[in-house]
Amino acid sequence: MSIYQIAIDGPSGSGKSTLAKGVSKELGIMYLDTGAMYRTCGLAAVKRGISPKDVDAVTRMLSEMKLEVRFIDGTQHMILDGEDVTGMIRTPEVSMAASDISTLPVIRSAMVDYQRKIASEQSFVIDGRDIASNVLPDAKYKFFLTASAEMRAKRRLAELNERGDFSQSYEEVLRDIELRDKQDSERAAAPLVCVPDAIVIDTSEIDIDQTREALLSHIDE
Ligand code: DC
Repeated sequence: MSIYQIAIDGPSGSGKSTLAKGVSKELGIMYLDTGAMYRTCGLAAVKRGISPKDVDAVTRMLSEMKLEVRFIDGTQHMILDGEDVTGMIRTPEVSMAASDISTLPVIRSAMVDYQRKIASEQSFVIDGRDIASNVLPDAKYKFFLTASAEMRAKRRLAELNERGDFSQSYEEVLRDIELRDKQDSERAAAPLVCVPDAIVIDTSEIDIDQTREALLSHIDE
């Protein structure tokens, strides 16, 4: 059986990861969360106390740190300098650091190289911002998920609350999302774009099951 890739790009909170997980399970292939890789870079900067915008410090950090994506029982784990940090990369502080550090070309090129290597080994559902436009322009399937900022903020807040995190209000979550949208789409290096041959799915008015069905209806594996 040949290897194929399903790229899912879109802004933060559009439901990419929930969708990608569901689709990968349905098709019996792996899920690669590229945001987790940038989050781990952001965490590395936070841990070292360096600014995620400081190119020189980040370049030095990149040569010193060891970032590894490991799949354990079919689930992606992020290993930073030998420590499993999977549970530490979803805080508001790390989210912002990830958004900042992912604007640096030196970080992007290291992550993109690693993502391409991972994707060359087996079939994946891969989600991110630049998968179809940059990482895997030849991916067999390309999707772009969108939803209104308000709907995404609502979902993100519910997700945080579900995890027992009540540190942010709806307004704060919405402001963070709008700020990250702006940064992710206006940055010079690999901004969030919808490629012309991607299938666009707007999830504002449909639930996750309907979104998954909409995506799967385009897959003929
Ligand atoms: O999808 P996420 O919220 O976990 O992503 C975290 C940050 O990483 C987000 O600010 C955008 C960035 N990112 C990126 O620049 N390119 C990707 N392929 C994935 C994420």
